[in-house]
Amino acid sequence: MDSEQRSNSGKEITCTAAVAWGPGEPFSIQQIRVKPPQKMEVRIKIHFTSICHTDLSAWKGQNESQRVYPRIFGHEASGIVESVGEGVEDMKEGDHVLTIFNGECGECVYCKSKTSNLCEKFRVNPFQSVMRNDGKTRFYTLDGKPIYHFLNTSTFSEYTVVDSACVVKIDPKAPLNKMTLLSCCLSTGFGAVISTANVQQGSTISVFGLGAVGLAVIQGAKTRGASKIIGVDINDDKRIKGEIMGMTEFINPNNLKEPVHEKIREMTDGGVDFSFECAGNVDVLREAFLSTHDFHNSSPTAA
Ligand SMILES: NC(=O)c1ccc[n+]([C@@H]2O[C@H](COP(=O)([O-])OP(=O)(O)OC[C@H]3O[C@@H](n4cnc5c(N)ncnc54)[C@H](O)[C@@H]3O)[C@@H](O)[C@H]2O)c1
Ligand SMILES: [Zn+2]
Ligand SMILES: [Zn+2]
Repeated sequence: MDSEQRSNSGKEITCTAAVAWGPGEPFSIQQIRVKPPQKMEVRIKIHFTSICHTDLSAWKGQNESQRVYPRIFGHEASGIVESVGEGVEDMKEGDHVLTIFNGECGECVYCKSKTSNLCEKFRVNPFQSVMRNDGKTRFYTLDGKPIYHFLNTSTFSEYTVVDSACVVKIDPKAPLNKMTLLSCCLSTGFGAVISTANVQQGSTISVFGLGAVGLAVIQGAKTRGASKIIGVDINDDKRIKGEIMGMTEFINPNNLKEPVHEKIREMTDGGVDFSFECAGNVDVLREAFLSTHDFHNSSPTAA
């Protein structure tokens, strides 16, 4: 932490951010003003941020709830705490952190539940574009117009302000450039296998869509000792990455005459034990569901 950063504590910062001004419009790389963190908030210097498909869908503004502009997208990121607001005691300047788009207040019925963490206050909410504290933004244009937040995080900026419920401290020895993936895609895919579906040794699985989430599903299934891991993608280039992660078979549905679920049923004697939809497409979701067998009741489809 350099002295320049320290001197900004409690003050407004001017920095560069990628601002989206309209659906699908090229990001404007521009100077913005970032307010200091308020009560129970944290201001983070973003060191690395990756792009998740959810950023792309929202940037395109595919549905009305996503159309809030100007806005700063990005939610998969790692960085270093620059300053903390009043009342924050478990984090301090200099801590290495990840942003958490599905934050946890720790007090609501969901946070206290053993089976869910879909916090009432900080869960994914496409309509939420301001801070929970006071309904205002912490980002402004240089001439004072508000710039809206995204998924409690807004990481396509050199500095962001998030609620302390939406940050987690990590080991400072962990490489920040790799840790960013833990902030969304890896925990989503790996968690779907280990926590939601609870895939067991010897299980058969299919994975539709081999982007960052799908590849993390493959890693989770390999970790659990799945016997067959069938990857499905319309892009042949994904075969190599899938195989590196542990995929055992690959299907490109465009090369088939029959629907992909029929091919998977044929390859697995009636269907896989678990199927994961990681393309974000309802037609693919249907194929993923149909590729599971129905002879015991432990074959959920996780999306
Ligand atoms: N917590 C969550 O719920 C959560 C977290 C992260 C991402 N997501 C969602 O998961 C999805 C995947 O995200 P990502 O970042 O891995 O995306 P990505 O763009 O990196 O990967 C998507 C993959 O799907 C493939 N694909 C597209 N259409 C297909 C089709 N018809 N059949 C088979 N494959 C197809 C693409 O070729 C690509 O490889 C998105 O919808 C995203 O919004 C949800
Ligand atoms: Zn994401
Ligand atoms: Zn909560």
